[in-house]
Amino acid sequence: MTATKPGMGGTLVGGCRIIQLPKIPDVRGNLSFVEGEKHIPFSIRRVYWIYDVPGGESRGGHAYHTLEEFIIAVSGSFDVMVDDGGQRQVVQLNRPYFGLYVPPLMWRKLDNFSSNSVTLILASLPYSEEDYFRNYEAFTRAQHGVHK
Ligand code: TYD
Repeated sequence: MTATKPGMGGTLVGGCRIIQLPKIPDVRGNLSFVEGEKHIPFSIRRVYWIYDVPGGESRGGHAYHTLEEFIIAVSGSFDVMVDDGGQRQVVQLNRPYFGLYVPPLMWRKLDNFSSNSVTLILASLPYSEEDYFRNYEAFTRAQHGVHK
């Protein structure tokens, strides 16, 4: 499996998309931003972030029924594996002005975190444990049910 790097273009599995965000270069420091329903296709209902990840650890390892997410490496780098139940792809995020849009019904796993990396995740809904698929077989059954 080869990692797709932001800027390489190309279609990603299951409707996932790398989206380039505005970058305002400035000698005082660069600035990027994201607006819901403008740069990303959903309105932002929740924001969470993952940090202090010990070497060799992974996060994610689940899918959602209805949640859409946008994942940004605001600091450092990591890989996101996305899986639509049939095909898998690995995307490396390593710039704070690119993000990965992940639609519902996509299994994802984040790993290879660099030291001091910070993952910012914008989500379309409040937290709900009922929206998770934490079992891969249950996820693929639902995926195949949707697309048959
Ligand atoms: P989880 O989504 O499994 O972590 P990740 O996918 O990032 O590896 O969430 C880990 C724990 O944190 C779980 O007990 C639920 C809780 N949690 C919340 O309470 N609110 C949230 O917004 C999120 C994302 C997680």
